[in-house]
Amino acid sequence: MKTLIVYYSYTNNNEALANVIREKLKCDILKIEEVKKRNGFTIALDLLFNRTPKIKASSSDVALYNQYVFIAPIWAGKIASPMRSFFIRDRFYISNYSFITLCGGQPGQKEKLVTSLTRLLGHEPGIVQELQINDLLPEDKRNTVKYTSGYRVQPGDMQKFNPAIDDFLNSVEALYELKRMTL
Ligand SMILES: Cc1cc2nc3c(=O)[nH]c(=O)nc-3n(C[C@H](O)[C@H](O)[C@H](O)COP(=O)(O)O)c2cc1C
Repeated sequence: MKTLIVYYSYTNNNEALANVIREKLKCDILKIEEVKKRNGFTIALDLLFNRTPKIKASSSDVALYNQYVFIAPIWAGKIASPMRSFFIRDRFYISNYSFITLCGGQPGQKEKLVTSLTRLLGHEPGIVQELQINDLLPEDKRNTVKYTSGYRVQPGDMQKFNPAIDDFLNSVEALYELKRMTL
């Protein structure tokens, strides 16, 4: 299995997650970068008008892989717009893929992510997993946008998500094996 991790991160939480997964998989990694870096205003415009920003050319040959792990934040229930730009540009190369996000956490969001990924890439994802900032916060700060959206990953946080990350990667591998055997 030749895997490529493709990630986007605005405030580095998902970059920390991507680095942990890369360490575990020892595979290639591709960072999505906008031509013009997002800010609060351009993020709001992207969301309001369903825009996708221009992104830089990929440093890896995306077509060379047979498994993709996508990692990006969620903004207002949607996958961050630069990642959507990548999907629109490179979707023809993508066969087997899974998605994991370090996001604030909202009930019912995962189902919407599956629907959105299927629409954007033209076929269903393998495994979709949310790691929730809510789980890092004290009870009185959970489910409050100010705290979930403002949170920056601290040393030791990724350790807390380690079992969930391992579950995700084991499921990705098991699904890949199953598909390979049934082909
Ligand atoms: C404008 C904005 C909207 C957000 N909306 C959601 C949301 O709908 N659901 C969610 O779970 N998290 C939401 N978040 C939280 C981010 O997904 C979370 O902060 C993420 O870890 C940021 O990742 P990054 O540091 O890699 O950019 C939002 C954050 C921002 C800035």
